[in-house]
Amino acid sequence: MNVFNDYSRYYDLLYQDKDYEAETSYIIDLINKYHKNTRDILELGCGTGKHASILAQNNFKIHGIDLSRQMLEIANQKSNPNTSFAFGDVRSYRINKKFDCVISLFHVASYQNTNEDLDNFFSTANEHLKSNGIFIFDAWYGPAVLTQLPESRSKTLENNQLKITRNAFSEVDFNENIVKVNYEIDIFDKINNLHHKLTETHNMRYLFLNEVKMLAKKHHFDLIDYHQFLTQQHASKESWGVCFILKKI
Ligand SMILES: C[S@@+](CC[C@H](N)C(=O)[O-])C[C@H]1O[C@@H](n2cnc3c(N)ncnc32)[C@H](O)[C@@H]1O
Repeated sequence: MNVFNDYSRYYDLLYQDKDYEAETSYIIDLINKYHKNTRDILELGCGTGKHASILAQNNFKIHGIDLSRQMLEIANQKSNPNTSFAFGDVRSYRINKKFDCVISLFHVASYQNTNEDLDNFFSTANEHLKSNGIFIFDAWYGPAVLTQLPESRSKTLENNQLKITRNAFSEVDFNENIVKVNYEIDIFDKINNLHHKLTETHNMRYLFLNEVKMLAKKHHFDLIDYHQFLTQQHASKESWGVCFILKKI
């Protein structure tokens, strides 16, 4: 079962406070810094297409893929002439086209749990890049996860139709570098006065710099930058999310 299918129904509500505009302008700054002539972008794990639609408004042409048909359905509602979306797995997707830039945002890399998954994720990025093209992705960062350790969290959000309460409790598999995030979600449909309960487990792989360096080398990339996502501070044990920028050699 794909956890993102149920997730998609409340994804945009749950992340309504996430600043996609600021994140996208940060990504555009990185593109301008490291590969200024970028026009065509492939997005691996585009979700509901929020970064894609802002990139498209900024004159980039963006093709997004995702494994959740429901997420893609929402992405397609935001579509414009500069966006296209397709069903695909970031580990195996192939299209006969090369892009200037591949992006993969909001921890899609961490959803690739095994070494083989990560290896295949890097292959997909490499296969679709022109030479000197750049690959930008963010992931949970091992030093921060292991020093801060995941905490139980609760979040409530609502709009005119829904009130959603999501409780998260996590367990760390220290041998496999995975955090199992168990979610209990209560969705209250205000219009029909109905409660719907869901449970989901998201397994998140935290990455270390040296394994990214090893994957980069194996897949013919240079790791040209890495830093705390968005703030661009030096990656440290304070940096839960770290962004890696690689250039295809
Ligand atoms: C946290 S969401 C991020 C979505 C989007 N990038 C954003 O920033 O809102 C993670 C996304 O990765 C997708 N995903 C996870 N593993 C995938 C895989 N192997 N192939 C394609 N999509 C995948 C999920 O379906 C989901 O849409």
